[in-house]
Amino acid sequence: MTDSLNFSLSEEHKSIKEAARDFAQTVLLPGVIERDIACSFPKEEVKKLGELGFLGMMVDPQYGGSGLDTLSYVIAMEEIAKVDASVAVVMSVNNSLVCYGLDKYGSPEQKEKYLKPLASGEIIGAFCLSEPEAGSDATSQRTSAEDKGDFYLVNGIKNWITNGNSASVYLVIAQTHAELRHKGINALIVEKGQEGFLVGKKEDKLGIRASDTHSLNFNDVKVPKDRRIGEDGFGFKFAMSTLNGGRIGIAAQALGIAAGAYELALKYSKERKAFGKPISEHQAIQFKLAEMHAKIQAARWMVYKAAWDKDQGNSYIESAAMAKWYASEVAMWATTEAVQIHGGYGYVREYHVERMMRDAKITQIYEGTSEIQKLVIAREILKL
Ligand code: CAA
Ligand code: FAD
Repeated sequence: MTDSLNFSLSEEHKSIKEAARDFAQTVLLPGVIERDIACSFPKEEVKKLGELGFLGMMVDPQYGGSGLDTLSYVIAMEEIAKVDASVAVVMSVNNSLVCYGLDKYGSPEQKEKYLKPLASGEIIGAFCLSEPEAGSDATSQRTSAEDKGDFYLVNGIKNWITNGNSASVYLVIAQTHAELRHKGINALIVEKGQEGFLVGKKEDKLGIRASDTHSLNFNDVKVPKDRRIGEDGFGFKFAMSTLNGGRIGIAAQALGIAAGAYELALKYSKERKAFGKPISEHQAIQFKLAEMHAKIQAARWMVYKAAWDKDQGNSYIESAAMAKWYASEVAMWATTEAVQIHGGYGYVREYHVERMMRDAKITQIYEGTSEIQKLVIAREILKL
């Protein structure tokens, strides 16, 4: 009846999926357990990811990117996250927060200077919104950016910053006109090594242990005015608009973690025998697999729909929040089921699913907790 609803991937999308899957299996899989144990940042792996064009996927080739759509990006994210969720978060922050933010809202000079090396993967970036006392309540920014004429004087602390030490460029959200509350916030570009800018302690985390999460300290950091993104006071809108796309990336990461755990559980269930037959022949295991498969597929369509909305130029606040909320809930649940299907073997590192269970948890927390996604969805539906 209708030609507009098409559930099959194009040849181009299929080849992106294949390329990302191949990269994940050959480059990421071999060291993923060791990197998790040692909390070692995947420097070489991220460099290769950049060389393949996966760090600036949606950026115009004019600015060093791959010029692909958001659907390509989520397809690739899923495949990377199936194997290594730590690499996936580096990819997500660089693509959908840092590159997208600069691409959409940066000046031509900012794009030339910062977006080009970021999109080509020469350097990576960080997105700095959260503070010790401003996480979900993101408008309560304490970091200040005092207007000094030609420059801003930045003081304060940012918390939990992904790529905190590995980044070269930081998009920093800070309060300039406190009396205007969120309308007085600015987004500034800070470079690593600037006087007064110090990378603080590295967090010792439950999951995504190979990603580097740091606090950042700003002590009288001078940021020239031409490094402000957008108009004076645009910083909070910048952060929220950018995060809508970021949430699609994290939803794809969650989807990948869930799908990766499911693939391992499915394979294992056919190999492991109990009571004289493979455990996949016990109905209790079949029901777990069936439910995992169905929920993961539902999450996948929600992620694709959010990506499609963004590509079509539709509003995607609601579909991004729904995809992020649902995919992260599925990831936490499906990885726990994958451990259960593996029995005792699921509880040890060698079988990967215990790491996936630990990695899944963060997807319910960052880029807006599950509670905040529901708040965003509720506000959108009640507006109608
Ligand atoms: N898209 C566009 N604009 C949005 C928006 C969205 N999703 N959400 C809020 N806004 C706008 C509102 O329209 C409003 O603008 P106006 O005043 O011009 O109308 C402004 O932002 C303030 O919004 P609210 O009045 O709704 O403010 P609030 O304080 O009641 O709620 C919030 C805001 C939705 C809870 C917001 O603070 C939020 O999203 N919090 C979660 C923060 C977050 O996601 N942090 C992620 C950090 S980055 C990260 O985590 C990276 C990583 O891990 C890898
Ligand atoms: P809080 O806001 O204190 O929330 C605590 C609990 O209260 C949560 O369950 C929350 O859902 C609930 N809650 C709060 N407000 C409400 C409400 N109104 N209604 C219902 N429930 C509510 N931030 C960045 O800016 N950049 C990064 O790169 C980045 N990377 C991160 C990486 C990691 C590993 C981690 C752990 C965090 C990262 N974050 C980053 C921060 C992350 O976005 C925040 O941790 C998150 O937004 C939650 O904020 P919070 O930790 O202050 O929790």
